[in-house]
Amino acid sequence: MSTETNDAPAAVLARVDELRALIKGYDAQYYLEDASDIGDAEYDALKDELLTLEEQHPELIKADSPTQTVGTAPSALFAAVTHRTPMMSLDKVTTLEEILSWGARLQKLSAPEDGSPLVCEPKIDGLSISLTYENGRLTRGATRGDGRVGEDVTPNVRTVAAIPGQLALAQSEIPEVLEVRGEVYLPVSAFEELNRRQATAGLRSFSNPRNAAAGSLRQKDPGITAGRALGAFFYQVDGVRGLATQSGSLDLLRRAGLPVNPETTVVPNIGAVFAYCRDLESRRHELGYEIDGVVVKVEDRALHVRLGATSHAPRWAVAYKFPPEEQSTRLEDILVSIGRTGRATPFAKLQPVRIAGSVVGLASLHNEDQVRLKDVRPGDTVVVRKAGDVIPEVVGPVLSARPPGSEPWSFPKTCPSCASRFVRLDGESDTYCVNAHCPAQRVQRIVHFSSRGAMDIEGLGEQRVAQFVAAGLLSDAADCYHLQVPDLIGLEGFGELSAMNLVAAIDDSRSKPLANLLTALGIRHVGGTVAAALASTFGDLDRLMSASEEELASVEGIGGVIAASLVRYFGSEDNRAMIERLRAGGVQFGAAVGPQLSQTLIGKSIVVTGTLSGLSREEAEAAIIGRGGKSPGSVSAKTTAVVVGDSPGAAKVTKAEALGVRVLDEQEFVKLLETGELP
Ligand code: IVH
Repeated sequence: MSTETNDAPAAVLARVDELRALIKGYDAQYYLEDASDIGDAEYDALKDELLTLEEQHPELIKADSPTQTVGTAPSALFAAVTHRTPMMSLDKVTTLEEILSWGARLQKLSAPEDGSPLVCEPKIDGLSISLTYENGRLTRGATRGDGRVGEDVTPNVRTVAAIPGQLALAQSEIPEVLEVRGEVYLPVSAFEELNRRQATAGLRSFSNPRNAAAGSLRQKDPGITAGRALGAFFYQVDGVRGLATQSGSLDLLRRAGLPVNPETTVVPNIGAVFAYCRDLESRRHELGYEIDGVVVKVEDRALHVRLGATSHAPRWAVAYKFPPEEQSTRLEDILVSIGRTGRATPFAKLQPVRIAGSVVGLASLHNEDQVRLKDVRPGDTVVVRKAGDVIPEVVGPVLSARPPGSEPWSFPKTCPSCASRFVRLDGESDTYCVNAHCPAQRVQRIVHFSSRGAMDIEGLGEQRVAQFVAAGLLSDAADCYHLQVPDLIGLEGFGELSAMNLVAAIDDSRSKPLANLLTALGIRHVGGTVAAALASTFGDLDRLMSASEEELASVEGIGGVIAASLVRYFGSEDNRAMIERLRAGGVQFGAAVGPQLSQTLIGKSIVVTGTLSGLSREEAEAAIIGRGGKSPGSVSAKTTAVVVGDSPGAAKVTKAEALGVRVLDEQEFVKLLETGELP
């Protein structure tokens, strides 16, 4: 038991002990098991709390407090390596204002007149590595370990393609011993690929690229490391005299053939750091590797010496950490939602939690196997991740916080909407409700029909569709066009005005282009792009419906799978009946140009490229289709002619010439439309 001091009450002492134990536990997990039970932000919060308490009660500071040490003792799996100089940590800040205070402190300590240049570098979210080159040859690779003693991972490091075995410097420039430090990371694409492989092999997936990188480098068998596509960036050099600046160090690293991060930039003063941080944060998910902040360093290395370091971090650098994208919260329940195709998707109902600027209350769990692999259970505390525009995801459970007696979750046997038995086919990961009359499926099909990119009916979202289906007003999309104002008035939430608005919005949708209607039908494999290709080729729904499978498959961008899916869809009695009810409801089936046009272009295929002066591209295509022709998006041997306007697609013109297809100007095109003859 710790003895109480004069200053600190027992409660503070107890909390300090508890914080130290918690942090050490998480450190061991992070550094030795390449795993983490808590998000970064929560870890930092624990550490901040401990730092504050130690600041208020300096008599409690102990040499082995996690605030005084870096990392954790190295694993016994590897030989120990004592670093020639300790591998330090960085002080962290989480707001731009704090960067300013750091800058002000710097200025006070080093007193440069108008601030000094700084180097901004991405803070790579990997694991730190130290490499030793003797006479230009790589002789050692070591992890950070506890900062003083690391792990010897030389054979593993040798398998990393980004790390040269031999420095690329001129002989005269090669020091006897050169130590470089940097970060090994796993690119996001390699991380996703690795997790796919883990899943196929029935192995637990890595929760993030950092853990995966650490797990890949810290392997007893370097053959495993070799298969993991690790990358590295370096930012620090030891053992070279006469390096006056941080950017000079980076230049040397580059010349030596070591990868240096391309986003690294020298800025004139602390004011310019803000713009760098904001810009990098806005692009963080486009880089292809994970970063968790920006490291700001003083450019002038003479100042590094003057500024020195605290027990664990240099004063000449600071880490600005981006707001966290992971948080833990309570998993209240696991529910199953039914999509328009009947697919049953499990999702997490969470105690709402704020992550990266928005509140997250729901997160997808994808399918039955994913839930089993992650083994998340109602009542668990789980780590939730929301990165950029990506849909929030449950990373995994915090096992240490699992309530006793909890059981693995099992997928329900029946559909929560219609109670019919779920079906999961052998070898498939998805589970389906196969009842075509399932109300939940009906709702989703109509919601899809009404959505943006489809019929785009304002005011007809999920809630209302569910309300109308429950009230017996809608059973499929065609019913929308038979809804009348009196049907709606009196329903909960409807007055005369809102009823009229909705009926008007439905009316507007009757004249949506064919591509939207095709998208709205929700035919398997027919999304916006395929729908647009079909619409511009066939021009109206009746012609499309009467096309043969071969005819469909010959359309550019449409292969056998899509053609078969179309034939299957239009072959169904139910679907044809629904389409007839859409027609009866006044929905236009294309034929944008009136039927009175003479059908001069039957059997002809005319490609338009570039801007015409008399009509838009859409009008030109409509004019072709309206006369019985086709207007595909690309040139083939079957093309009758290519119409070339201003700034045409060079590839189309070249291909037409190569295939001997006639090239027409706008005037000749107008003649062709009238006569059907090639001029
Ligand atoms: S400089 C003495 N620069 O962040 C200065 N560190 O939180 C040592 N890191 O241990 C570090 N990117 O593992 C530095 N551009 C960068 C970095 C970086 C990532 C890691 C490194 C360090 C940790 C500190």
